[in-house]
Amino acid sequence: MCHMSLGGGDTQVELGVSQVAGPVCALVFASSGKEEIIWERLYAADTMILDETPLFDPRLLAELDWSQNMVSFCPAISPVNPGESLVLRPLCTSDLNRGFYKVLGQLTNVGDVTAEQFIGKFEHMKRSGDYFAVVVEDLNLGQIVATATLITEHKFIHGCAKRGRIEEVVVSDECRGKQLGKLLLSVLTLLSKALGCYKVTLECKPPNVAFYEKFGYVASEETYMQRRFSD
Ligand SMILES: CC(C)(COP(=O)(O)OP(=O)(O)OC[C@H]1O[C@@H](n2cnc3c(N)ncnc32)[C@H](O)[C@@H]1OP(=O)(O)O)[C@@H](O)C(=O)NCCC(=O)NCCS
Repeated sequence: MCHMSLGGGDTQVELGVSQVAGPVCALVFASSGKEEIIWERLYAADTMILDETPLFDPRLLAELDWSQNMVSFCPAISPVNPGESLVLRPLCTSDLNRGFYKVLGQLTNVGDVTAEQFIGKFEHMKRSGDYFAVVVEDLNLGQIVATATLITEHKFIHGCAKRGRIEEVVVSDECRGKQLGKLLLSVLTLLSKALGCYKVTLECKPPNVAFYEKFGYVASEETYMQRRFSD
């Protein structure tokens, strides 16, 4: 591994939003004809509801200063226009049914995760405010085709700074070479800066060093060490 761094009114009830199993409704829209939406999660004993609630505020992606991006894209793509039939957005729990784990499984061992475990982890991450998992969805297929995550770590040092860590970068094998890896890295690198991180780091295998160097990452002199307690 290498360690790399970079400095009210009518109420409507809508049925059948994405879910793992069972005919349980999930959304209640509240009223007034404006964009006021109340999310109601209804849990049945053996049914977990998956929905479109984003892990973090999508405006963080839409408002990135794309002119600061360090790599070129040909054809031109961007966070708000990632390619035909593609959308780049924060992870939501419905992505469990859109092959999120199928993509992650091309990177590492993902284990047997239940919907309950997934939702529990998602809600923990959302509450913390420090997890920025992004996905690229192919809207024609209704499938996730790429994902990467930025985590912000809080420090007492460097004036109580924040450090960014980029993890779980993977593009599904049939979509590689279409600039999606570059798009994800550019987006999360810019996001880490926008969030005020003093540096952003990642670990990668030697064959991928050249890929990350495109975005200004340099191999550090520090050695990445680990002690594993399970796979
Ligand atoms: C590495 C990975 C994310 C790249 O995604 P991708 O969508 O295939 O790559 P892109 O199409 O965005 O990349 C395009 C550019 O990066 C280069 N590139 C792609 N993979 C590279 C690699 N492993 N090493 C060096 N350069 C690479 C391409 O040559 C291309 O260069 P160009 O823009 O100058 O023409 C993808 O191959 C993948 O998911 N691999 C398996 C999982 C993995 O290894 N993840 C990284 C964990 S650290």
